[in-house]
Amino acid sequence: MASNPAYKNIIVTKIDNPGGLKVGQIQFNRPDVLNALNIELMGELLGALEQFDKETEIGCIIITGSAKAFAAGADIKEMATQGAIDMHIRDQFAVWDKIRKIKKPIIAATSGYVLGGGCELSMTCDMIVAAESTRFGQPEIKIGIIPGAGGTQRLTRAIGKARAMEMILTGRMYSAREMFEAGLVTRIADDEIYLEEAQALAKEIAAMPPIAVQMAKDAILKAFDTTVEGGLEYERKAFYLLFASEDMKEGMNAFIEKRKPEWKGK
Ligand code: CAA
Repeated sequence: MASNPAYKNIIVTKIDNPGGLKVGQIQFNRPDVLNALNIELMGELLGALEQFDKETEIGCIIITGSAKAFAAGADIKEMATQGAIDMHIRDQFAVWDKIRKIKKPIIAATSGYVLGGGCELSMTCDMIVAAESTRFGQPEIKIGIIPGAGGTQRLTRAIGKARAMEMILTGRMYSAREMFEAGLVTRIADDEIYLEEAQALAKEIAAMPPIAVQMAKDAILKAFDTTVEGGLEYERKAFYLLFASEDMKEGMNAFIEKRKPEWKGK
């Protein structure tokens, strides 16, 4: 593991993975405010994600927080003084569109509070590994606003209209188990080991052929903004395209020759 000192609000490390590519890990580091997501932190997060996305040695990414909070939402103190036109001009949530464009899979490893923008960020990731202590919520209604970084859309698609309505209109918090049963969470783990669980999952994915991993992520995300017919066509094109990769030939030859494949990421 090596840490990058260039950031103020996040800790960036790379985790070795003898079975495959490395895992890139980004940990929020604003403990005094429960990792509230201010503009500077979100800029650093995007920078680190884009860097990992470029680096061929990285196969999968983890975003995590601390035991007490993954993130307690957008920074209310920063937002409180802003007007509508400031927000429009700065368009600070445009950063979220760029996070969605990251090609490599991203796992949110959550513990404690996952609220507001924190919950929306966990849903922008591709999978959520949650510690038992995780509390998910969209409490924006309690401060006179609504989720503004995808909550009304991603939560509704993930857990259905009725449950999303209750969660967003009451602002209540829900346990990791409730959210697992609702389909939002990939896995639940004991508080002591949730990060290791997320890292194990990330390493497993980082040992897969990278181009196929990225195409699979892309095709799955397509399901959220297209018809089934359009999505099937998209999937088929991606499937055919993979037959141009060296890893496809290596994967099939290794199977036939009964040996372990060696991926090139090409
Ligand atoms: N923004 C800024 N500061 C925050 C914060 C936030 N979202 N959440 C917590 N903090 C700060 C608190 O102000 C406090 O700072 P001080 O010590 O300087 O007072 C510190 O973090 C610790 O918080 P608490 O003392 O409140 O801790 P607690 O354990 O009593 O309560 C909590 C924890 C229930 C999470 C409570 O802090 C809370 O309700 N936070 C706000 C949650 C929220 O409303 N999030 C949605 C934000 S809006 C949004 O995210 C919009 C969007 O869609 C993008």
